[in-house]
Amino acid sequence: MDIHAQKILILDFGSQYTQLIARRIREAKVYCEIHPYNVGNDFIKSFNPRGIVLSGGPSSVHDRGAPRLEKEFFDFKVPVLGICYGMQLTAKLLGGKVERSKKREYGPATLNVLDPTDIFSGLGRAPLKVWMSHGDRVEKVPRGFKVTARSANSVVGAMKKTDGLFYGVQFHPEVVHTPKGTRILRNFLYKVCKCRPLWTMRSFIETAVDDIRKRVDGGKVVCGISGGVDSAVTAVLVNRAVGDRLTCIFVDNGVLRKGEADKVEKTLKKHFHMRIRRVDASGRFFKRLKGVEDPERKRKIIGNEFIRVFEEEAGKIKKVGFLAQGTLYPDVIESVSFKGPSATIKSHHNVGGLLKKMRLKLVEPLRELFKDEVRSLGRELGMPEEVIERHPFPGPGLAIRIIGEVTPKRCEMLRKADSIVLEEIKGAGLYRSMWQAFAVLLPVKTVGVMGDERTYENTVAIRCVESVDGMTADWVRLPYEVVSRISSRIINEVRGVNRVVYDISSKPPSTIEWE
Ligand code: XMP
Repeated sequence: MDIHAQKILILDFGSQYTQLIARRIREAKVYCEIHPYNVGNDFIKSFNPRGIVLSGGPSSVHDRGAPRLEKEFFDFKVPVLGICYGMQLTAKLLGGKVERSKKREYGPATLNVLDPTDIFSGLGRAPLKVWMSHGDRVEKVPRGFKVTARSANSVVGAMKKTDGLFYGVQFHPEVVHTPKGTRILRNFLYKVCKCRPLWTMRSFIETAVDDIRKRVDGGKVVCGISGGVDSAVTAVLVNRAVGDRLTCIFVDNGVLRKGEADKVEKTLKKHFHMRIRRVDASGRFFKRLKGVEDPERKRKIIGNEFIRVFEEEAGKIKKVGFLAQGTLYPDVIESVSFKGPSATIKSHHNVGGLLKKMRLKLVEPLRELFKDEVRSLGRELGMPEEVIERHPFPGPGLAIRIIGEVTPKRCEMLRKADSIVLEEIKGAGLYRSMWQAFAVLLPVKTVGVMGDERTYENTVAIRCVESVDGMTADWVRLPYEVVSRISSRIINEVRGVNRVVYDISSKPPSTIEWE
């Protein structure tokens, strides 16, 4: 069965939760895509969805220029679930009455279900705990609709069209603060839209392998691997499709973590017998980074140099026609959702130039996947947990964690401190529960005392954050014993460091990386 055969279309009205809706649907093993609310009825027709979800959004339906739907949208004979703004907009467009609230209602609420069927079936009799975040509310439902739930203060909490083609909820079933939200969404998918759970990573592999073979058509592929999970999974998947017509290039830029290059190479070679060219280009990178202190210049230098080295190596492979890349779905979505500021605040390198110059065509087998799906795909492909569960690591590597000039000596100092942080975090069983844990080397010398001697040495900052997607983050409340062990080990074992501090800033307003 085609894994894309039964799919859900999510129309995005700019909610911060739109991607979360998609992830919940995917977790229910149903394929879905996010598109802007104004993608047009022709597109919707050709997409041929089993059901449509209208996301929430920050606007009021009464605002001038507020996002709308074309009238004919309601002629599709496809079930629709309107969440928050999606429900209010529908109520307004179809002749109901929507009241503008003076202030935004935000937070937990209780809901009494009046009609325990369809999306509310199997939830039990107790009032539902739900998460509200809205300005407007539906005062009167349109003709042909009925109220299916009300909040404790009698606000319309949910409505449905009696022909079963529209369901609206005022609350957010996609967030964890609506404990039965997953069940409500699944009811919509399985009971209302009659979707089956076809979207699994096991079936994805078959389809992807087929697609890659067709696209590459006997040609040769190169893939840059960085040690990160995305590029590693891409490489393993492409390797499964084209075997040793894939060559991986691993550029050691000198600013990697301790033992990283060896580990990646070993895993891919030993477990998957892949062709890997490892290039030690650290000398070139350090030469260009000499005297550079500005974070953006560091990023650009490393990005450009990476492309140069990669190009030279790829150029040595005869008749290569394709470049495999680990682009993920969140980078592809053309959505109106709020995108965190980091995309533009810090420049990320890309290999776009390669495609033109070397006339390479792209192979991006992960373009449909979210990060958690990439991880389960990796597991399904038999990759070791150590690779799959790795924390994200930025392209410019340790260079943007050495504040000030990057020298081989400072790099070595940070590498040692960093490996102690990871060892201790892993030892305490905390690694998997956090988004990232790392050390930063500061250009600050302070006075200390070791034995009877005065010291005047460097400072290391520890950064441990929890986050869902890297867009926002909070610092981890590490147990004191763990911070204490990290601190004393770094000061005792890393020469040149006599002080350790812990970073207690959240994002925003700080960022995760220091540069
Ligand atoms: P910031 O520092 O912007 O980081 O809060 C958000 C997430 O992105 C990672 N990051 C990068 N990843 N290339 C990457 O591949 C980069 O240039 C880069 N800069 C930041 C960062 O580690 C965090 O997870």
